[in-house]
Amino acid sequence: MHPGVSLSPFAGRGPGWRFVRTGPTQSSTHDLPPQETIIRKRDGLALAPDEIAAFIAGLAAGTVSHAQAAAFAMAVFFRDMTTTERVALTKAMRDSGSVLDWSDLDAPVVDKHSTGGVGDNVSLMLAPILAACGVYVPMISGRGLGHTGGTLDKFDSIPGYVTQPDNALFRHVVREAGCAIIGQTADLAPADKLLYAIRDVTGTVESIPLITASILSKKLAAGLGALILDVKTGSGAFMPTLERSRALADSLVSVANGAGLRTGAIITDMNEPLASAAGNALEVRNAVDFLTGARQDPRLREVTLALGAAVLELTGYSGDARQAVERALGGGLAVEHFSRMVALLGGPADFVTAMDRHLRAAPLVRDVYAETEGRVVAIDTRAIGMGVVALGGGRTLPTDTIDHAVGYGRLAGLGAELSPLVPLGRVHARDQNAADEAEHRLRAAYLIGPDAAPPHPLIADRIAPPGD
Ligand code: URA
Repeated sequence: MHPGVSLSPFAGRGPGWRFVRTGPTQSSTHDLPPQETIIRKRDGLALAPDEIAAFIAGLAAGTVSHAQAAAFAMAVFFRDMTTTERVALTKAMRDSGSVLDWSDLDAPVVDKHSTGGVGDNVSLMLAPILAACGVYVPMISGRGLGHTGGTLDKFDSIPGYVTQPDNALFRHVVREAGCAIIGQTADLAPADKLLYAIRDVTGTVESIPLITASILSKKLAAGLGALILDVKTGSGAFMPTLERSRALADSLVSVANGAGLRTGAIITDMNEPLASAAGNALEVRNAVDFLTGARQDPRLREVTLALGAAVLELTGYSGDARQAVERALGGGLAVEHFSRMVALLGGPADFVTAMDRHLRAAPLVRDVYAETEGRVVAIDTRAIGMGVVALGGGRTLPTDTIDHAVGYGRLAGLGAELSPLVPLGRVHARDQNAADEAEHRLRAAYLIGPDAAPPHPLIADRIAPPGD
């Protein structure tokens, strides 16, 4: 058990976790040439699991070309895949690299994955909250994608924090702090890395079977015992309609459980930024304020605690899971775990108490007011995310460097009453031109009217593992 844990009902229990590893199975379709597999999918046939395994193994080994992988992705895009095919694709991508084994730990190993949003810094709080509840959280996170922020980019704003530790340091931090938030290593699901890059430039990203296999292959490779998915819906989500978000959540939950990973999902609202800040260092500051109790955005608090309780329940937690996460946060244990994780991964030992000294601030800070008084009726959340990218806080090319200090703060939420004294938000910019553009983008993202629109439910749906 990692130190500092006082809330765990798992103490003294053995690990009790299954780490599923499946090798390729044998049948007549495993030695088909790649073009036959592409043709069969193009013609709408269901592929056999061993055929999918052979195709993905070939991609990883270099015997399936990138052109063939692109054609395969496009065939899947148009022809879809059955759940059995999706499970096979996910397992094949997992098996293209190594699978972490945490069987030496004495409590469940869990994680959360978000499909991506704006002002979504939940991971920064949730990992230490769960660690304080006695479970282990080896969280392998990504960088920003499109208009959405990335957890790793947020941690890069902490001086000294190592987002790519070697395996020994990663394991040491998980054991000692209960959580470690790091980046994907080269040997975890390398076939996904290849296929993702191919999809990115061939118009095949927005395919539910391909997204499912991509996300879950990495989570299966992380050797988890339980996973909670935060599937976003609304104007700042990759899946803007509830119907598409539900289809993605259903696919993720059935495939993850089909592949042996106990998984549930919560569909949460992204019709406005989740935190009142969007931008890397600004979201870290917001997260630390949340953990210390200095300031907690209410919607962010509800989503974070709901996800925490849900994943604890998936582990078979014997107590009141909601109460456990609330106590971990309110009692100050979660912030201790966060502080320990930051220090063990190379960040300042006094980061939590002296974050103003450690986080870079943008040279230009400006409040932005709406041109008319009234209430916030709608927010183009994606546009706010793109505003952060335009300020330099995200990338338009994979090789771009990020300005961690810039972004938006104090963002007004849906229904907020605006006046000459209440701004839409605060721009943090590198220079005057960037601030002017960010101001313009922020105003354009807000629709103001005399009356607030009916609120969107913060938690739109919950999907339990099959059979629960
Ligand atoms: N995140 C991933 O890891 N893969 C996808 O395909 C989409 C989002």
